[in-house]
Order: sequence, then C-alpha cells, then structure tokens
Amino acid sequence: MSKVTIVGAGNMGRGIGSRLAGDKFQLQVLAPTVEHATGLADELGNGATAGGVDDPIEGEVVVLATPYDGALDFVSRRGADLTGKVVVDITNPVDWASFDRLVTPHDSSAAQEIAARLPPGVPVVKAFNTTFAGTLTSGEVSGQQLDVLIASDDEEAKRKVTQLVESAGMRPVDAGPLRRAQQLEHLGFLHMALQDSLGSGYGSAVKFVSP
Ligand SMILES: NC(=O)c1ccc[n+]([C@@H]2O[C@H](COP(=O)([O-])OP(=O)(O)OC[C@H]3O[C@@H](n4cnc5c(N)ncnc54)[C@H](OP(=O)(O)O)[C@@H]3O)[C@@H](O)[C@H]2O)c1
Repeated sequence: MSKVTIVGAGNMGRGIGSRLAGDKFQLQVLAPTVEHATGLADELGNGATAGGVDDPIEGEVVVLATPYDGALDFVSRRGADLTGKVVVDITNPVDWASFDRLVTPHDSSAAQEIAARLPPGVPVVKAFNTTFAGTLTSGEVSGQQLDVLIASDDEEAKRKVTQLVESAGMRPVDAGPLRRAQQLEHLGFLHMALQDSLGSGYGSAVKFVSP
C-alpha cells in the first residue's frame, strides 16, 4: 500500500483525503493544529494517522493542502525531510486583498516557487488546483468524473501522481511541464472568479470534453 502524507487538514485536505481513503493508500494527515489533523484522520478512517507539522513525514507522496504561504513555509522548514519524496502542490496563490490577481511573479507560479525552495532533485507536481474541495469530497459533479490536471518536469513523479488520481476514481490529464502551472493557477483563479456567474457555489468542475 503506498503512503501519502497530506499537509493541511482543511477543505482540500478533506477533499483529497476522501478520494484517497480506502485500502489503496495509507494516509497521514499533518497540520499545525494537531486536533484538526486528528479530527480529519478519524473522519477518513482506514487507519489514517495524524500529527503536527514537525513530525516525521511518512508518505512517499506529500500533498501540500495549505495556503500558498503555508506551503512555502513548510517546504522551507522541512525541505531536507522531503528528499526522495514527490511533493504535490495544489495551491492557487490568489491575492485575497484584491481578488484580482495572483501574488506570484508574472513569469512564475506557486509550483515553481515551491520547487525553487526545495533541495535539488525533489520533484514537484502541480495537481488538484482546478478541482474545488466540495467536489473532491463528493467525487463527482452531476454524475461526471472529475478531471485533475497534472504538470511536472519529472516524468516518474508525474506517473506516480497520475496513478494515484486514476486509482482514486478521477481522470488525470497531462498538462505538460511544471511551467504549465502558471496557466493552471490562472485557470484555478478564473474558476473561482466565475462562481457568481455560474451560480454554482463552488460546486462546479473544470472538465475537458473530447470525442
Ligand atoms: N478550497 C478549495 O476548493 C480549493 C480548490 C483548489 C485549490 N485550493 C488550494 O488548496 C489550498 C488549501 O485550501 P483549503 O481550502 O483546504 O484551506 P483551509 O481549509 O484553510 O486549510 C488550510 C490548512 O493548512 C494548514 N496550514 C496553514 N499554514 C500552514 C503551514 N505553514 N504549514 C502547514 N500547514 C499549514 C491549516 O492548519 P490548521 O488546521 O492548523 O489551521 C489548515 O489545516 C490553498 O492553497 C488553496 O488555494 C483550494
């Protein structure tokens, strides 16, 4: 059984954890507020464990389900412990003050900024940033399978996350190299900005339809 650590016990920790919970993955939830991690691990069941953000990281795949600044903080502090693991960045680095832009440099992305703070060779995969938490928790929207767009420069890491997404019942879509995270993060922001127009209350999904 492969081990996955989810850092963050909020909406996305719950959403991704709900999809992965079962007999295929051994889940570990870490959060600054240990009670939040424990609560989510109990909710996910199937032997999920919980701890604080300074505890040993058990997963081969580590999902950063934190705000963007929290992800930067976590990889800056725990970088050495992430060597040999696959880091999954799900963040949308939205400027919440204006809700009009991203806070990342225009020629970069959260995923690239996170990668730059990790020791050389630790692969970063961008995924899940275009799927809303509630849709992950329910696992579908109007009977439609969720699309998860995946970008990375490391083909082996991308393959691992692709398999994880597939075995959790979602459709992985290869979005190319890590620099595509720039477009994925703008797409994630656009999806949020469209919620009033769509009237979907963060219950919509980005889905690509092809013949
Ligand atoms: N919500 C969505 O639908 C959605 C969709 C796509 C992408 N995203 C992205 O997913 C990320 C998480 O969103 P969310 O809605 O799950 O947020 P959330 O509900 O606020 O949960 C954030 C979690 O991160 C933890 N955290 C905060 N600072 C941290 C740090 N420095 N180190 C480790 N953990 C830290 C929090 O800890 P405590 O429990 O101790 O407070 C909390 O458990 C964000 O980057 C967001 O842009 C969200």
